[in-house]
Amino acid sequence: MLRSKIAGLGYYVPENVVTNNDLAKLMDTSDEWIRERSGIQERRYFTEGKDTVAGMGTQAAKIALERANMQAEDIDMIIFATLNPDYMFPGSGVLVQRELGLHTKGIPALDIRNQCSGFIYGLSVADQFIRTGMYKNILMIGSEIHSSGLDFSDRGRAVTVLFGDGAGAAILTASDTADEKGILTTKLHADGEHAEMLATLRPSGHKKRHITHEMIDNGEQYPVMNGRMVFKMAVQKFPEVIKEALDETGYTPQDVNMFIPHQANLRIAEAVRQTMGWPEEKVHNNIMKYGNTTAASIPIALTEAWELGKIKEGDLVCLAAFGSGFTWASALIRW
Ligand code: UT7
Repeated sequence: MLRSKIAGLGYYVPENVVTNNDLAKLMDTSDEWIRERSGIQERRYFTEGKDTVAGMGTQAAKIALERANMQAEDIDMIIFATLNPDYMFPGSGVLVQRELGLHTKGIPALDIRNQCSGFIYGLSVADQFIRTGMYKNILMIGSEIHSSGLDFSDRGRAVTVLFGDGAGAAILTASDTADEKGILTTKLHADGEHAEMLATLRPSGHKKRHITHEMIDNGEQYPVMNGRMVFKMAVQKFPEVIKEALDETGYTPQDVNMFIPHQANLRIAEAVRQTMGWPEEKVHNNIMKYGNTTAASIPIALTEAWELGKIKEGDLVCLAAFGSGFTWASALIRW
């Protein structure tokens, strides 16, 4: 039986650091409020003309390829997760393909829109393609530029302070299961009942005009969020989907060596850690430095944890996410 192993990881964050105090100059917020409610101290914002959603993903991919000892030509498929693509269409996956010089090879580029769960959803898709033997090496990218679509007036403060820009990438490669390493399982869920509770509603395909001056004047192009509801659902669904993955594979929470949660809020990660009975050193958080980078948050945190030596060969690594949709997901990986 074939399994998918992570052969290489990389991340890219824009150089422009934006502190909580920088935001407090633009809107009615404070460093104290943001730190207390979310744990965030600063985040990165892209530079127009330098950074693109696809370009940041490509930077991350190049690092991951080098660490995997692979050339771009070795990639059989690209999967790209973002909520804010460079264009309404086509998706940014084909732009990465072009930037990596793979457009003449004709390999598929699949774009997925599952927001905070996007990376794990993509990982799961990649894993299925590898397990069936259809593809050998898959490039999975999560990349987000949030800062171009946020409301920097007081109206948007509850959402705007949480999000940052960045990209992360993983190379998945087929491996024989004799050593039982690689992705052991992925668990994916969705519940569309509350789709509009965390969403950007415009531009909208079901309006006669995608976007009008009136919609823009009303600020309808900005993300909306019922923060309390998302928080409550997240602290419930994270442990649920982690336990589901553990039960299926016959492991207990104690068997997990490192947990990488989607970086939505330090308080959410802390609540999940306590529910799972994990000591602090078993969880890697970096929301303090980067805010919530949605589909990029798990690959950035995973890469960082690996770079810091927090993930060693043979470790059992758990990933989990919850977000807009609502969607939620987990993955268990034997390193
Ligand atoms: O990736 C998944 C996406 N999102 C999440 O996971 C977010 C989940 N939710 C959260 O993280 C939290 O709900 C927030 C951090 C968004 C908010 O924390 P909270 O403790 O739920 O605060 P709240 O929304 O209940 O707001 C408390 C107060 C309100 O004022 P009043 O009504 O008590 O007078 C808000 O208007 O804080 C006010 N407020 C702010 N004050 C200063 C909201 N945003 C801000 C702000 N600065 N940026």
